[in-house]
Amino acid sequence: MVAGQGKGMGLFYPIVGFATCIAFIYTTFGDTFRLSIYVDKKMDFVTVNGTHFEVDGGIFYVNGWNSYWLMDQAVEAYSRPRVRAMLKEGAKMGLTVCRTWAFNDGEYNALQISPGKFDERVFKALDHVIAEAKQNGVRLLLSLVNNLRAFGGKTQYVKWAWQEGIGVSSSNDSFFFDPSIRKYYKDYVKTILTRKNTITGIEYRDEPAIFGWELINEPRCMTDPSGDTLHGWIKDMAGFVKSIDSKHLITVGLEGFYGPKNPKKLTVNPGDWAALLGCDFMRDSKLANIDFASAHIYPDHWFHEQEFEEELEYVKKWVESHIDDGDNVLKKPVMFTEFGYSNLNPDYDPNKRDRFFEAVLDTIYSSSEKSGAGAGSFVWQFLVDGMEEYNDDFGIVPWGRPATHRIITGHSCRLAELQGSNWGKGDLKDLCGRRKD
Ligand SMILES: *[C@@H]1O[C@H](CO)[C@@H](O)[C@H](O)[C@H]1NC(C)=O
Ligand SMILES: *[C@@H]1O[C@H](CO)[C@@H](O)[C@H](O)[C@H]1NC(C)=O
Repeated sequence: MVAGQGKGMGLFYPIVGFATCIAFIYTTFGDTFRLSIYVDKKMDFVTVNGTHFEVDGGIFYVNGWNSYWLMDQAVEAYSRPRVRAMLKEGAKMGLTVCRTWAFNDGEYNALQISPGKFDERVFKALDHVIAEAKQNGVRLLLSLVNNLRAFGGKTQYVKWAWQEGIGVSSSNDSFFFDPSIRKYYKDYVKTILTRKNTITGIEYRDEPAIFGWELINEPRCMTDPSGDTLHGWIKDMAGFVKSIDSKHLITVGLEGFYGPKNPKKLTVNPGDWAALLGCDFMRDSKLANIDFASAHIYPDHWFHEQEFEEELEYVKKWVESHIDDGDNVLKKPVMFTEFGYSNLNPDYDPNKRDRFFEAVLDTIYSSSEKSGAGAGSFVWQFLVDGMEEYNDDFGIVPWGRPATHRIITGHSCRLAELQGSNWGKGDLKDLCGRRKD
């Protein structure tokens, strides 16, 4: 029912046969892994100061995007150029951070084949993504596991525990409380953080092109609506990541719903159901090792009866409420790490999607402008041409529609202006200079 159920699924399977065939040709005739990227970029780590991010001695507001598919497409030589194309075009649009999956658990081209067992071929694909991002001046917000089924997710971890004869509860939520499964996740995280990139020679934990780590995409633990189980897991895992990697920022990956311990905020939720999912934006984001908070925005999935104009009003309220929490309670930056508008709406029209994008970006901008906690946004999701089979009902090729492209690059330019001279370089200078003429 809710945003994200379909993301990365369905679209993934039809191409498996084709991809297998291509992979066969490559392994037969070519060196699949001659990944030569020359990386000469220097970067600093992004840090947090109060409610804003900082880098290179200045404030850093993020105009970002999601392309969950980067690692997946980097595995096979035929699709690998899409990674560079996306990162290059993103940089050209003034986008500075891309959120993407650093996991594929047990599915086709899995990074983690079984607990603690990795496919080096796929790890090299992730190395490649990081090196490409760096070379293009883009940072990556890397997510470490999925709450949803796509690319394995918590269900796969539970299945592995069953297969190894560990007597876990059949609930998929045993991912959060079973000690053996917590150990699987920690082992996974440790391997990722200490991975030495075969292209750059830098361990992931020392790589400034990584913006930060997201513990889990859209966690929910409906079997414990009090929120205690998920909260305990987050606390444990955030501490674990920090103990290995103190340089990077950490976020949870929350959708932003308020839990039952926040009665005053419950009216901001999209419905009564949202308080019963076992997560709590305030309580979970407040943890000391969580450096910034996140929320997602999917009005068309959350409501079915609302008029479009009402949805827009709701979106403003939702965004303002979370920014207000960041400013006044959490005292941390807040990023809207997914927002999307489905083309499956019965009254879908790309103008509506543009107006939705504008409503989100304008509301965040009015906080950034006042040095508030509104620190960033990430469209769900961008593709490059020729990836139709990878599209979900949210995907767009951002240069495919001039009106949309203008809204997104316009946001890059106004943020660049806020950030001062540091940011008027390269692609952005051309882009924003031209806009001013
Ligand atoms: C943190 O931000 C404040 C302004 O909000 C600024 O005065 C201060 O210098 C910053 N600290 C660091 C270490 O950059
Ligand atoms: C776990 O998740 C899978 C996939 O979403 C589902 O088919 C299965 O029924 C779930 N298991 C339980 C016990 O809810």
